[in-house]
Amino acid sequence: MAVAMTASEWQTAKWKGRHLLDFGGYTGSEIETLLRFAASLKAARQAGQSTPLLAGKTLGMIFEKASTRTRVSFEVGMFELGGHALFLGSSATQLGRGEPLSDTARVLSRYVSGIMMRTYGHDIVTELANWSTVPVINGLTDLHHPCQALADLLTIQEQFGQLRGVTLAYVGDGNNIAHSLLQACALTGVNLRVASPDGYGPDAAVVTRARQWANLSGAEIAIVRDPREAVRSADVVYTDVWASMGQEEETAVRQTAFAPYQVNQELLASAGIGVWFMHDLPAHRGEEVTADVIDGKQSLVFDQAENRLHAQKALLAALIAGVVTL
Ligand code: CP
Ligand code: NVA
Repeated sequence: MAVAMTASEWQTAKWKGRHLLDFGGYTGSEIETLLRFAASLKAARQAGQSTPLLAGKTLGMIFEKASTRTRVSFEVGMFELGGHALFLGSSATQLGRGEPLSDTARVLSRYVSGIMMRTYGHDIVTELANWSTVPVINGLTDLHHPCQALADLLTIQEQFGQLRGVTLAYVGDGNNIAHSLLQACALTGVNLRVASPDGYGPDAAVVTRARQWANLSGAEIAIVRDPREAVRSADVVYTDVWASMGQEEETAVRQTAFAPYQVNQELLASAGIGVWFMHDLPAHRGEEVTADVIDGKQSLVFDQAENRLHAQKALLAALIAGVVTL
């Protein structure tokens, strides 16, 4: 005789063991669930309440690129959930000496309850996830940075009390940050305008898919050239570095191409009164953003950075333990 699952068993079965490489396979309502959970974890932390949802669990963190926020927020997040995080700098592991990723994935899966990886090609985290028997979380690839987008949506939700109908203007490189924002905004009904110089726009396949998702959520997605057009009456102006990790040799060429895309007081003025500023950090003051903007009253950058912690705690508890409520 079939036995019906309880609501909590159903919830566990729905979340436990999933990967997050990009937002493919996730729905807008699932992202909203994670954000609600993140907000309650944030409130619990502020109230001094402990939340040992991952007691006895370990997260392996493989880094092939530098990091401050991602490393610290995942490590502190696991600690605050009663678990442990293991920093695995790739140059100090056998992976850095050529051990196959497929072997690394199968070995780590015998020790840890989840793996977070920051690397170059997106195919690397895809391969890791194919071999891993524990959840794999993308901690940034050249193509996507979904954990940043989760924290960004949490920040927007806090600021506006809602996601649907808020208009975000992303001015700059069509990079991993732009791609994850395209996906996350399209799923949750946030309108997104992306303005980039010729040749530096977002990946066409990412845009096409985001437009399909936006048809369902009602989000308006626009890809434009003119930064002024993008920011006009936007609620938030967002930018990121002009040369991402791995593109250091292109820095000079990019500085010329992106100069008209600097987010300064003049560009913000063309957005209108009350516009907020966002940046995933690290930032280069005097390049993609002026110091008076990023350090000004309209800047949300440190809320974004803090929200990495809360959003990722929700994600870790969801994917490792199948828990999405306190
Ligand atoms: N925003 C972000 O991912 O920062 P780190 O590179 O410091 O992790
Ligand atoms: N686009 C940047 C984001 C850093 C968090 C990079 O990939 O270097």
